[in-house]
Amino acid sequence: MGRGWRPLIVGGAVAAGTFALAQAQIFAPSAPAGGAVAGGDVYRGETIYQRECAGCHGAGGDGGVGPALAGAGLDAATVLAIVRSGRGVMPAGLVSEAQEPDIVAYVVSLSAP
Ligand code: HEC
Repeated sequence: MGRGWRPLIVGGAVAAGTFALAQAQIFAPSAPAGGAVAGGDVYRGETIYQRECAGCHGAGGDGGVGPALAGAGLDAATVLAIVRSGRGVMPAGLVSEAQEPDIVAYVVSLSAP
């Protein structure tokens, strides 16, 4: 093929690379919830829960201002989404990203039916 093709090929490669980069940046922060919370420590999570959550959800998760979590059958993705974003009067960002796996592990274990 003649030299006339080269800009096209280079342009295509740049476009593909940009697309891949854009995708990586869009999807990296919201990696699959299950993966993001893997390895949480239930016991550390309980400490965080008593400090940040018990005031509204009760020390045993039996509810208060917020709904009961004990026995609610919540999964990790749901808990993570609500902890990150808040809901209703529940504020977002109560726990740091580093604490998310622990709090999610605890709430999931607490909410097991
Ligand atoms: C200021 C009070 C308050 C605090 C603090 C609070 N929550 Fe909540 N939470 C609520 C309320 C109210 C709702 C119900 C929101 C709605 O559905 O409108 C809720 C809902 C939830 C739900 C969804 C329950 C369901 O059955 O759908 C989960 C899970 C949850 N909270 C977890 C937590 C965790 C974990 C913490 C601590 C990091 C926490 N909350 C701290 C008030 C609070």
